[in-house]
Amino acid sequence: MDEISARLFDWYDSHCRELPWRATRNPYYIWVSEIILQQTRVAQGYDYFIRFIERFPTVGSLAEAAEDDVMRMWQGLGYYSRARNLHDAAKQVVAMGRFPHTYDSIRSLKGVGDYTAAAIASFAYDIPMAAVDGNVCRVWSRVLGIDEPIDSAHGKQMITEAAQSLLPVDYAAKYNQTVMEFGALQCVPRNPDCATCPLADKCVAFAEGRVDELPVKSHKIKVTPRYMSYLYVHNNEMLLLHKRTAKDIWHNLYELVLIETATEKDEDALLAMPEFIDWQSRIVDYVYKGCVGGIKHVLSHRVLHAAFYDLEVQGELPCPDGYVCVPFTELDHYALPRLIDKYLKKQKSLY
Ligand code: ADE
Repeated sequence: MDEISARLFDWYDSHCRELPWRATRNPYYIWVSEIILQQTRVAQGYDYFIRFIERFPTVGSLAEAAEDDVMRMWQGLGYYSRARNLHDAAKQVVAMGRFPHTYDSIRSLKGVGDYTAAAIASFAYDIPMAAVDGNVCRVWSRVLGIDEPIDSAHGKQMITEAAQSLLPVDYAAKYNQTVMEFGALQCVPRNPDCATCPLADKCVAFAEGRVDELPVKSHKIKVTPRYMSYLYVHNNEMLLLHKRTAKDIWHNLYELVLIETATEKDEDALLAMPEFIDWQSRIVDYVYKGCVGGIKHVLSHRVLHAAFYDLEVQGELPCPDGYVCVPFTELDHYALPRLIDKYLKKQKSLY
């Protein structure tokens, strides 16, 4: 075994965290954990993982679940396409007759990319494929002094080749867990403690005083602003929700009545918009209780500028096509984006 991998294994034996998805070879559990951890930290993902596999203990139970139930278990985690893909892929697995057990067949599941396929293949079956995520990129770009941007195809390929060449073929699972854990705990993005690092004397970035400069990122991701004005249409018992069905953020989640505009609208401008006037004529009898403006919500590729307008209806709510009237006591049956959930929790400590 390469000296670097051997030292990392020693480090792992005394530093690794005990995590439930590490104490199993069940490919379904491993797969669920990897999808959760794709864009979520361990501390936040832990409880979601436990609840998810309690609710859907087998791939068959997930395949048979209603999509709204799956989305509800995901509520608050963000990146909801992960949950939809997981659900679709569970049906793929059931159709395959057993959990796929080669790298290529695992990679063919919806929502499973190179990293996740290598992670599942190695953790569940010890298939010798290096799993390269953000933590792993950071470790190898520093240790080996790779300064190609890690978000470029070439940089990613260099790192993947390096990671693969250092993988001891009989210890694929341990190797992948180890490098990831080393990136998460020791070779951290900011101010890593290089004085206690077992690879300090092997690390190119440390030798050249470039630990803070690596990995390099080209920052090509473009962030688009969106302007969402939400009407909180409610009476004492119920509120109006809308299911987002378009292929867009929050697909199949429920939100309040939305008026989205291409540019920022202040309260006066919003109240004069035809869409707002339409809602006024639908509701007729209501008290306008004002606006909570200026909530900024950051997603990976978008910054949402949201404002909420409170319309308290006297009597029954209108319920046009595409909307549902939901009692406050039943709100937890609906998967809501975090932005909406937070607003409603602030309004009503009812649910
Ligand atoms: N992040 C992604 N996969 C992980 C794993 N298996 N353990 C800890 N963090 C992870």
